[in-house]
Amino acid sequence: MRPTPAAVALLLVVLCLGGGGGREASASSDFDYPAAFNFGDSNSDTGGRIAAGFEPMPPPYGSTFFGSPSGRFSDGRLIVDFLMDAMDMPFLNSYLDSVGAPNFLAGVNFAQAGCSITPATATSVSPFSFGLQIKQFFAFKEKVTKLLSKGDRYRRYIPQLDYFSKGLYMFDIGQNDLAGQFYSKTEDQVIASIPTILLEFETGLKSLYEQGARKFWIHNTGPLGCLPQNIALFGKDPSQLDEVHCVTKHNRAAKIFNLQLHALCTKLRGQFAGADITYIDIYSIKYSLIANYSRYGFENPTQACCGYGGPPLNYDGRVPCGQTKSVNGNLVTAKGCSDSTEYVNWDGIHYTEAANFHITSQILTGRHSDPPFVDKMPFLLKPRF
Ligand SMILES: *[C@@H]1O[C@H](CO)[C@@H](O)[C@H](O)[C@H]1NC(C)=O
Repeated sequence: MRPTPAAVALLLVVLCLGGGGGREASASSDFDYPAAFNFGDSNSDTGGRIAAGFEPMPPPYGSTFFGSPSGRFSDGRLIVDFLMDAMDMPFLNSYLDSVGAPNFLAGVNFAQAGCSITPATATSVSPFSFGLQIKQFFAFKEKVTKLLSKGDRYRRYIPQLDYFSKGLYMFDIGQNDLAGQFYSKTEDQVIASIPTILLEFETGLKSLYEQGARKFWIHNTGPLGCLPQNIALFGKDPSQLDEVHCVTKHNRAAKIFNLQLHALCTKLRGQFAGADITYIDIYSIKYSLIANYSRYGFENPTQACCGYGGPPLNYDGRVPCGQTKSVNGNLVTAKGCSDSTEYVNWDGIHYTEAANFHITSQILTGRHSDPPFVDKMPFLLKPRF
């Protein structure tokens, strides 16, 4: 993504607001956390699925930033990576990563691609779920507590005990609960399931709060109807698409999920004494990017950079990014585009690094969250490459 004049101007405006202060009704987010604990799906998986032994990820995954597949479903960094960077913390290691001496001093990532909030079933993409990630967190915390009691030997690799109360608990999960259901259920049925999904989410948050978590950072779910994968399957009939060519019913479900998630955050704010709960409107940021992509320096809003099939979507479920498959008797490969910075979408399901950078810089304006945090903008994202 080219650093557009608009983007530079925006950052300057934000800086000025930050310097001037005086904004009312803003949270005092100081972004000074000793550690972060992340829970989620592929949107924030930094290597969990690969570490857990699922199918390896081929090039060109990781090619833009890491030089080779990094366990992230993108050509480079994810939103969680840019957020960690902005908070001056190292990238999160996956909880399941057992080789290469992963360092958990500044936190752990429990996110796993394919995870849903509701428990996995025999047909789930992943056997892991939010509830299991919470259990893994408690197992981690218990082990850390034991190791710390054994002296200083491990202190360089694991969080201190007070990091569990001072750390930031980040969440980006729910997309798979909705997207998965659309394959076999009606829109009404999907929408009717949302309270049950969120009850499960609430249970997880409550158990974390009861164990001392106080800083919650909750991403809502994105416009899944704008993913090439869903457009390819559910948008064949143009009447199913909205004005920016996203599948209307998927986005409607996402918006209802987000309304209820937002209400849950408000409710929990009243119940979790001494806690900060920040709700981030990822949906609006992503939808604006897709609707007004050219303003932000992009050329393709809903065409996969890495895929097969060509425009308009360049997505074919039979040939995933980086793989070679036989289609009608011919061997074909889903290759990457020549310049991923022109694309919002990476592989038909996930976003490019350029899009993730844009989304994170929007998050950090503090204007897309409840409560907003425009008064304390302590950092600028580092230049990209
Ligand atoms: C796109 O830009 C137009 C013109 O500024 C604006 O009216 C519209 O709300 C934007 N769309 C989204 C989804 O942000």
